[in-house]
Amino acid sequence: MKAVMILCSGLLLMQVAYAGGDPANGQKLFETSKCLKCHGTEVFTRPDRKVADLAALESQVRRCDANLDTNWFDDEVLDVVAYLNQTYYKFP
Ligand code: HEC
Repeated sequence: MKAVMILCSGLLLMQVAYAGGDPANGQKLFETSKCLKCHGTEVFTRPDRKVADLAALESQVRRCDANLDTNWFDDEVLDVVAYLNQTYYKFP
């Protein structure tokens, strides 16, 4: 019974996350990478921010990742997208 409940809450969490991305892992990746070398988190919340939807957020994370040579795998990019969306952008 306990296992079923744990399974259910896991499924629920997965639905909230973007495309299966794991925001907790995304946060770890984001904070241990040099993402804040060129800009702070203010670019995510400034009134004239460039990113207008999830697809644009994903391409921007890919561009910035390429600048850093971190070479994140696709699922790691999606984890970071999920983290940034959950924390700053809040796209549906
Ligand atoms: C080599 C410098 C550099 C690094 C390192 C960098 N970025 Fe960026 N980032 C930029 C520039 C330049 C922009 C565009 C700023 C602008 O449009 O005014 C930007 C913009 C962004 C935006 C869009 C902000 C908006 O306007 O909505 C996101 C999201 C972002 N970066 C994420 C990341 C992430 C995640 C990392 C770590 C992988 C990262 N950046 C590392 C240079 C960098």
